[in-house]
Amino acid sequence: MVRKGLIVGNWKMNINHLEAIQVVQKLSYRLDLGDYERVDVAVVPAFTALRSVQTVIEADRLPIGLGAQNCHWEESGAFTGEVSAGMLAKLSVNYVLAGHSERRALFGETDDMVNRKVKAILSHQMTPILCVGETLDQREAGETLAVVTGQLMGGLSGMDADAVTSTVIAYEPVWAIGTGQTATPEDAAEVVSAIRVALGERWGDAAEHVRILYGGSVNAGNIAALMAKRDIDGGLVGGASLDPDSFASIVRYWI
Ligand code: PGA
Repeated sequence: MVRKGLIVGNWKMNINHLEAIQVVQKLSYRLDLGDYERVDVAVVPAFTALRSVQTVIEADRLPIGLGAQNCHWEESGAFTGEVSAGMLAKLSVNYVLAGHSERRALFGETDDMVNRKVKAILSHQMTPILCVGETLDQREAGETLAVVTGQLMGGLSGMDADAVTSTVIAYEPVWAIGTGQTATPEDAAEVVSAIRVALGERWGDAAEHVRILYGGSVNAGNIAALMAKRDIDGGLVGGASLDPDSFASIVRYWI
């Protein structure tokens, strides 16, 4: 099974819409068609920059995917401060993160909420990127696989094999996010492979089609070794995606 690589830049609460236009334009100057044939590339700006980035992508016909960092599961209604999946789909958003560890830890997102978000995203023909990962305490207590598979099954609860195939999973150990402390390729691959096994036990062959990314202090120096692992299909990149030079080097990890 050949799964196309996917490199996603999560800009978090950084870069205003004017800066975002510049970053995506600079990124596009550094990538060529051969790169996009080899890997899918997406950027995930803050809500306020989505429209601007979408306009650049469309006007310049860039083969860069557009992602959002979060959404609400309801279609519309009295949810002040929230944005629905339908609103994102109307903006030609392709990917939406669900259950990033910062959302879980800082904004109280539960597996049930994440599951509803994943379903709302899929119902608008966008691709959810379901994020899972253990804290340092959980890793040291030997709970990594239990925590990760719990979040995985919780996030995908009630979904059939087609829906699971249309979902991207991102394994992001919380202790590696923004810390400069990347999981070793072996540690990352061990958990990513366990995720694929868990998917296979529940959804059979669909597991071989699901793209699983690694995230947590990915940079131009460590991406190649991560991508060399059979089960790791790409990266979810935070800090290093804000700089077009470093993000382009990550996208072109084989060079
Ligand atoms: P980082 O963030 O690359 O800055 O560690 C990754 C993420 O949170 O998605």
